[in-house]
Amino acid sequence: MKMRTVQLSILFLALMFLFACKDRAPVGIAGKEVAVSDSTMNSSRQAMYSMTYSERIGKRLFAKYCVVCHGQEGQGDGFNSYNLEPRPRNLVDTTYMNTLSDARLSEMISAGGRGTGKSVLMPAYGSTLTASEIQDLVDYIRYISHR
Ligand code: HEC
Repeated sequence: MKMRTVQLSILFLALMFLFACKDRAPVGIAGKEVAVSDSTMNSSRQAMYSMTYSERIGKRLFAKYCVVCHGQEGQGDGFNSYNLEPRPRNLVDTTYMNTLSDARLSEMISAGGRGTGKSVLMPAYGSTLTASEIQDLVDYIRYISHR
């Protein structure tokens, strides 16, 4: 019986704590976020608005599917890249990327290395992504490779 009372009081305390945090969270955290974003967000927000809608979707897809190998900035230095031979392409290498047509890029993404005579370590996304998502990725790759 006593054990139960102890358990109940712990539960009650935990709940109180949760509610107390919940009340404060929006003020504290949101306030902080505004302060942080005021100083740092401006440039990235501007960069965001200079992108087309398709490039922005491509960026999100890239973050989800490609960053692990090609890296956050597309430079071929994702955390998995060090396990791969050949290394994933540096997609920011303008000179090299300009030798590839848009058609070649979308073929590469949909058929992967196996389907295009390149390394099989580059996966095929033809059955994961729609044609328009692949186009968004091509647009995003063009956006970062022209920088
Ligand atoms: C498992 C790791 C891995 C993932 C995930 C991955 N890639 Fe790759 N990618 C590679 C490797 C390795 C190569 C190099 C292939 C070669 O040079 O033979 C490559 C090459 C490429 C190339 C250059 C092709 C060429 O003709 O030189 C493009 C473009 C590319 N990847 C796009 C993407 C996109 C877009 C995604 C996400 C949808 C993606 N990759 C996800 C490993 C990966």
